[in-house]
Amino acid sequence: MNPRKLIDTATALVADDKGLLAMDESNPTCNKRFAKLGIPQTEEARRAYRELIVTTPSLKDSISGAILYDETIRQKKKDGTPFVKAITDAGIIPGIKVDTGAKALAGHPGEKITEGLDGLRDRLAEYIQMGARFAKWRAVIAIGGGIPSRSCIESNANALARYAALCQEAGLVPLVEPEVLMNGEHTLEQCSKVTEEVLRTVFNQLYTQGVMLEGMILKPNMVLPGLTCPKQESMDVVAGATVSCFLRAVPAALPGIAFLSGGQSGELASARLNAMNVKFKSRMPWALAFSFARAIQQPALEIWQGQQVNVLAAQRALYHRATCDRAARRGEYTAAMELGVGQQEHHVAHASL
Ligand code: 13P
Repeated sequence: MNPRKLIDTATALVADDKGLLAMDESNPTCNKRFAKLGIPQTEEARRAYRELIVTTPSLKDSISGAILYDETIRQKKKDGTPFVKAITDAGIIPGIKVDTGAKALAGHPGEKITEGLDGLRDRLAEYIQMGARFAKWRAVIAIGGGIPSRSCIESNANALARYAALCQEAGLVPLVEPEVLMNGEHTLEQCSKVTEEVLRTVFNQLYTQGVMLEGMILKPNMVLPGLTCPKQESMDVVAGATVSCFLRAVPAALPGIAFLSGGQSGELASARLNAMNVKFKSRMPWALAFSFARAIQQPALEIWQGQQVNVLAAQRALYHRATCDRAARRGEYTAAMELGVGQQEHHVAHASL
């Protein structure tokens, strides 16, 4: 482990008001999203879609790093250039999802434990060789009748910390992602309580496992009411509850917090991140950044529909969402930025697919 290098990479991932693009959907998740839009669920379709993303001109204006999946890190552009090289040449840091998915937690119906620790040291060595500089591991915590249990929270926190320690040993910056899910009727207060408990447990485990906080990034959920909670909350309430929760539970040594979008629309995710930065940016010990998948990609995927003829328009939509999220980091996002989306040309010449 070279602590300086880890700190430099972690710092670079949240520098210049940029954020991360999560494009690490597993094949089943990617196929599910394709199926909804009638796009063929083939390796070639997934490759073509990812080529669209990594060749979006000037993506690095707003994106510091891109998270890949095991299939993706081995794929190439049509002209034979590996995606990792295309991303690196574009000025974006490549990362890799290394967990192997959330499985049923024994004895705890409705709860999950993320797997992937067995053989992880060897897999990390291979990913580093392929050019990855950071990694991601996602734990999922559901809120419902009697859950989450301590067992679920502690098992997932332990696995996240063991993964993070292995990453730093190998020279990869770990993104530590404990996601409290939005699904359900729970209130914002319940989400806040669970998120705080999860974060405290995760940081306790990170300390126990000797993880260097300066060389990692936290990728959490925002504090939100459940999707079907009758009481939805304003931007300011969400921003205040999220920041209070994180101030209580997240050490100041961390360089950045890069939120996941979790199923919020692109506009809502931008607006909520913006509200946090407008009100609190100058008082935060860490950068409040983004690491969105759906909130950046979804409009582009819907425009693309698997058709080559739609690639340019899809890339414009992707670039636009990333631009909105960078503006949100500065507290400069406005609803007016969403007007006329799809019509604007962005200024840089387009790389051909
Ligand atoms: P969403 O932003 O779509 O929640 O995805 C982020 C992610 O990387 C999930 O692990």
